[in-house]
Amino acid sequence: MTQIDGRRVLVTGAAGRIGSVTTRHLAEQGALVTALCQPGQAVDGADRVVHGDTRSERDVAAALADVELVVHLAALPHRDAGSPYDVYATNVISTFNVLTQAAQRGVRRAVVAGSINRYGLPQGVDRDARPPYFPLDTDIPADVSDWYSLSKLNDENASHMVNRRWGVDIVTLRFPHVNTMAALTAVAAQLTADPRPGLTEAWAYLDVRDAARAIELGLETDARGANAFYLAAPTTSIPYRTEDVLDALAPDVPRHKRFVEREVPMDLTDAERLIGFRAQHLLDLETRDLPADIPLTA
Ligand SMILES: NC(=O)c1ccc[n+]([C@@H]2O[C@H](COP(=O)([O-])OP(=O)(O)OC[C@H]3O[C@@H](n4cnc5c(N)ncnc54)[C@H](O)[C@@H]3O)[C@@H](O)[C@H]2O)c1
Repeated sequence: MTQIDGRRVLVTGAAGRIGSVTTRHLAEQGALVTALCQPGQAVDGADRVVHGDTRSERDVAAALADVELVVHLAALPHRDAGSPYDVYATNVISTFNVLTQAAQRGVRRAVVAGSINRYGLPQGVDRDARPPYFPLDTDIPADVSDWYSLSKLNDENASHMVNRRWGVDIVTLRFPHVNTMAALTAVAAQLTADPRPGLTEAWAYLDVRDAARAIELGLETDARGANAFYLAAPTTSIPYRTEDVLDALAPDVPRHKRFVEREVPMDLTDAERLIGFRAQHLLDLETRDLPADIPLTA
């Protein structure tokens, strides 16, 4: 029996890429899932479906009936998923609305979809920007120049506020690119031909089944407070040694450790320490030398 067995969990964005797999996964672990999704969307695994808008006080109140645990995934998940106003307003109002109403109804624990973008560089204005250091870690400073990244950074502030005011324990998972293994394999092929676009994301990825498992662990942990941290597969989505590709693309960026083979240059220790997470579904790539004929300059 799991800790979520028989407990009612609200999943927002339940019909989405991560939400649909998460809803099924939580139901398989015995949770009673209330799915909040948009009108016209269908979802498997939920025993209660509420069609509505996460920005609406009334819709979220209806979705929270009898709920003990919250998984908040609904968002416009990219800078270009709408106008700047829509992306920013949808994301921050939804997170504020879901967390504050959940807290006031006695919910004690929530998991929120954060993003690697909360530190700003991957969707930022400066395509030549380099992280201040590798590995990307929990404390890496933010340098934000787009509205999606700003929304994810401010969602973390909302979680802190809700924890301070109502004592709700909240885990924010700063997801890297999350997708099916087939889609991740296609992206890996592109980055193998040209690794440059993956630099600011540390060539990190996560299979959507691992994302669902991390969400479950975030509901089951006894970690207190509002914690936000990175998680990813332990290896990169390119076949080259991490030290070689960093030597080529970011020779001036300080490294706080030496990376072994294809080790992802992202600090995964908080994910393991706080929720016991280690990814299980990895890309099957054989390590090879950096070829001379791929683009390695800006
Ligand atoms: N997939 C990734 O690579 C990735 C990476 C980092 C973070 N994230 C975050 O994870 C979460 C889920 O992402 P996803 O990839 O499943 O995206 P998705 O677009 O597939 O799913 C998001 C869902 O939210 C719903 N939604 C949007 N606005 C809504 C509103 N106002 N009311 C109700 N529902 C609304 C959409 O209908 C959609 O089903 C998002 O918060 C996203 O920012 C995703």
